[in-house]
Amino acid sequence: MFDEMKFDRVDMLPEYVFAEVNDLKMSERRAGADVIDFSMGNPDGDTPAHIREKLVESAKKTKTHGYSTSKGIPKLLKAVADWYERRYECILDPMTECVATMGSKEGYAHLTYAITNAGDVAVVPDPTYPIHEFSFILAGGKVIKFAIKFDEKYRIDEDHFFNELERIFEEAPVKPKYVLVNFPHNPTTATVTQDFYVRLVAMAKEKRFYVISDIAYGDITFDGYVTPSILSVPGAKDVAVESFTLSKSYNMAGWRVGFFAGNARLIGALVKIKSWLDYGMFTPIQVAATVALNGDQQCVRDITEKYNHRQEVLIEAFGRAGWHIVKNEASMFSWARMPECVQHLGSLEFSKRLLKEAGVAVAPGIGFGESGEGYVRIALIENDNRIRQAAKNIKQFLKQFDNCKQEEGE
Ligand SMILES: Cc1ncc(COP(=O)(O)O)c(C=O)c1O
Repeated sequence: MFDEMKFDRVDMLPEYVFAEVNDLKMSERRAGADVIDFSMGNPDGDTPAHIREKLVESAKKTKTHGYSTSKGIPKLLKAVADWYERRYECILDPMTECVATMGSKEGYAHLTYAITNAGDVAVVPDPTYPIHEFSFILAGGKVIKFAIKFDEKYRIDEDHFFNELERIFEEAPVKPKYVLVNFPHNPTTATVTQDFYVRLVAMAKEKRFYVISDIAYGDITFDGYVTPSILSVPGAKDVAVESFTLSKSYNMAGWRVGFFAGNARLIGALVKIKSWLDYGMFTPIQVAATVALNGDQQCVRDITEKYNHRQEVLIEAFGRAGWHIVKNEASMFSWARMPECVQHLGSLEFSKRLLKEAGVAVAPGIGFGESGEGYVRIALIENDNRIRQAAKNIKQFLKQFDNCKQEEGE
């Protein structure tokens, strides 16, 4: 009924590639299959005890159950500003340059809604975490994408990045208003240097665009790599905001808490839109999030070490199965080029067959954009034994293809 009445905004969203793999995963599970699930960046560990305890303590109080403040309680906003000062020597005003969001995904949806005029253009590197692109599109903007390049250690080719930006600014019929960056990058895990942000801030000032930077995986780094922040560049606050989430660092994905910080005009726009749309997160969540940010960070180091270790287990076990993956320096993922003998399948078909025939779920690279083709993203959310079991299943699976080079034995 009423089919002639269209929902344009919903209709312009493409079929979610991941939905295909997800549906298949569900039907395999319903049929009794044991699926080893590397498909989503949903941390498998518990939220550290001291954070859970603070939530309970705060929820037991009687004054914490009403509407909260949409922009975040003052203590949480101060914790955000202190976090930036401690890590990045960046001084922020908690009340005008920081805002708490219900996870960073909500922040992206509403920030872009607040700041995008019809037809505004944003530049987003490809492949990309889908909300980085579709938040602008849903808000009525347009997105120009370009393929990023990285080396064998997943380090971004920064000259290539800036050459591409220069080219886009020369060629675009409408001058881009926003550039979105996300390093450590989802899905490729790629990283950048501090100098990258020095160049980006200088370019933003020269060409007059705002930068939105996502450092969701900023804590999860290995082998001495430290995530730089755009906000540590002098003058960055004139042109940039940055987001962070507690989902990954503290295994708090279900709690829905993150924050944005930086340029007061962009933060003010997000605060204003949010004040019309929500009443803030449940206060005990904000109190517990404050404790997470201010408290002992050993839990973050433990979580990071778990992903580092799993990545090493994966590289070793998958390598024996004939799938050679290179170690990255950050995030909870491996961005794995598919073995040569299955490249002809494409990443979607490969992921579907891997699920059906080997009981292993991964995210097909094409779901993150055209230049994700040939790769899959493996989230390190299964334990060592399950990773080794997946490798055995994959070894069997790959045997059907010609020229798959595998080691003998288990
Ligand atoms: C790069 C990146 N940014 C943001 C998010 C959203 O995180 P949340 O909404 O849980 O804060 C994710 C989630 O996977 C992500 O990978």
